[in-house]
Amino acid sequence: MTLPAEETKKEFVQQKFASVTPKYDFLNSLLSLYIDRYWRVRTAALLDGRPGPVLDLCAGTLPLSREVVRRKERKVLALDFCFDMLEYGRERLDKAGERKNIMPVCGDGEALPLPSETFTGFTVAFGIRNLANLPRGLAEVHRVLRPGGVAAVLEFSRPSLPVFSQFYRFYLHRVLPVLAGMISGDREAYKYLADSIEGFYSQEEVCSMMKDAGFTDVSFTPLTFGIVTLYSGTKQ
Ligand SMILES: C[S@@+](CC[C@H](N)C(=O)[O-])C[C@H]1O[C@@H](n2cnc3c(N)ncnc32)[C@H](O)[C@@H]1O
Repeated sequence: MTLPAEETKKEFVQQKFASVTPKYDFLNSLLSLYIDRYWRVRTAALLDGRPGPVLDLCAGTLPLSREVVRRKERKVLALDFCFDMLEYGRERLDKAGERKNIMPVCGDGEALPLPSETFTGFTVAFGIRNLANLPRGLAEVHRVLRPGGVAAVLEFSRPSLPVFSQFYRFYLHRVLPVLAGMISGDREAYKYLADSIEGFYSQEEVCSMMKDAGFTDVSFTPLTFGIVTLYSGTKQ
């Protein structure tokens, strides 16, 4: 499929996530063979040495916000512009009695409705690929972090190992959209997932954008043969 242009991407992304909300978590775990939980654990762990409030951007159904709070009691503001995803996550939080430290907020990550220098930590899992304008989003995150604040960014990347990368691409483009399309009822949403991974920036490009946004000590760690990459940076 042709990826949506910047002007139409927000509406497209909002609609697609609203459409798959009830099946989102189940499919995430199924399609990643439950490794997605480990990826979020690694992401949340990057903030271990930095207590204080955290912004979890593109928080969706709140799996990463919950992991951050599970590791250490702290306040998390969980922001997403898809109301259905947030509401689904909030209902599960209530059922699990985990509401105390997580505040879901519906808003745009590229125009954060938040004061500057508020958070000591920032997390985002599988969100930056969905932003219409990544440099703008990164600049906003940098603005709301306090000096010394740490950013932990998890995103899909493209494995480069020969044979494995071919197998992975076959799975991503041929198997995943069909399987996830049948379960969720929205095949286009999972074609978008595959094509947006294929069309996303390289690891070096993401690091360079983080630096341009003002982050220092920027580095990246590929996980699970490079299926995903964990980026980190600090606000000086
Ligand atoms: C793949 S989901 C990730 C959910 C969650 N972080 C996780 O670990 O599963 C991506 C989320 O990004 C949100 N999103 C995309 N662009 C956004 C924006 N500009 N502002 C806020 N949320 C956005 C979507 O609504 C969606 O819920």
